This record gives sequence, structure tokens and C-alpha cells, in this order.
Amino acid sequence: MRSSLHRYRWPLLCTAVLVSALTAGAVVVWKDQQQSHSVAITMAGGDPARAPDIIRRYGCAGCHTIPGIPGGDGKVGGALSNLKGRVYVGGVATNTAENLIAWIVSPQTFSPRSAMPATGISEAEARDVATYLYAQ
Ligand code: HEC
Repeated sequence: MRSSLHRYRWPLLCTAVLVSALTAGAVVVWKDQQQSHSVAITMAGGDPARAPDIIRRYGCAGCHTIPGIPGGDGKVGGALSNLKGRVYVGGVATNTAENLIAWIVSPQTFSPRSAMPATGISEAEARDVATYLYAQ
């Protein structure tokens, strides 16, 4: 008994260390996602959970590649990833939540010749989409 425990001591110890390292890593990634989620909600004030439906309804994904949206692989406009890290929206408006929302509702207000159409999305819906985009 004593000798078999002795034999398994190192493998057991290594497994325990590996499992705790993996768990710690998963917790860090999870916390990071939670944090970027809540930062986005604070920035734009919408509900990101409603965004995927809205994005589908207004055809955003037909023109844009959007993270987390199945089939969201449009190439007409740029990919809508890392919006949080941008300096400008549409290359013309300072990247604030209010400007991003206003752009989504009415790109021509900022950029009269923009190829992005006004889709008919409401300001409240655009707020949900902006919150979602900031969380990606
Ligand atoms: C018909 C294609 C088309 C549709 C539909 C469309 N867009 Fe766009 N979008 C574009 C193009 C093209 C640009 C780049 C325009 C420019 O810079 O003038 C753009 C730019 C943007 C930008 C600025 C991106 C940046 O890199 O600064 C955002 C944000 C955006 N679109 C979000 C949306 C959302 C949200 C929807 C759905 C409500 C949507 N778009 C629907 C074509 C489209």
C-alpha cells in the first residue's frame, strides 16, 4: 500500500497542479469577458442580448463580418470587430457611444456619400447593437 501510494505521488501532484492552473486560466478568461461585457453596457447603456436579433433583422451582417453572429460574414463594409479600440467611427466621427449609435441610425449625417444605407433601425435598437459591438 505504502509503496503504490509512493509510486503515484508525483503523477498525482502534477495532475493537481495542472488542473488548478487550467482552472485559474479559465477563471481569468471568464472574468475578462464579464468585464468587457459590463464596460460595454456602461459605455453605451443598451442590452447586448437583444443585438443578434436586431442585427439579423436590419441586414447588418449581409454587409459586415460581425463576431458572434452566425453567418455574419458580409464584406461590403469593414468587419465590426474591436469597435472599442477604434479612434473614429466611419473614419469621420470620434468614437463615442453616442456617435456610434447615431452612425448606425443615420450614416449620411456624418458621411453624406457613405455606401452604408440608413436601414430604418431605431435609436434604442442601435443602442443595443452599439453595446454589443463594444463588448466584442
Ligand atoms: C448595404 C451594406 C451595409 C449595410 C446593410 C450596413 N452597413 Fe454598416 N457600413 C457599410 C459600409 C460600406 C461602411 C463603410 C462606410 C464608410 O466608411 O463611409 C459601413 C460602416 C459601418 C460602421 C463604421 C465602421 C468603422 O469601421 O468605423 C459601423 C459601426 C456600421 N457600419 C454598422 C452597421 C450596422 C449596425 C448595420 C445594421 C443596422 C449596418 N452597418 C448595415 C455597409 C453597410
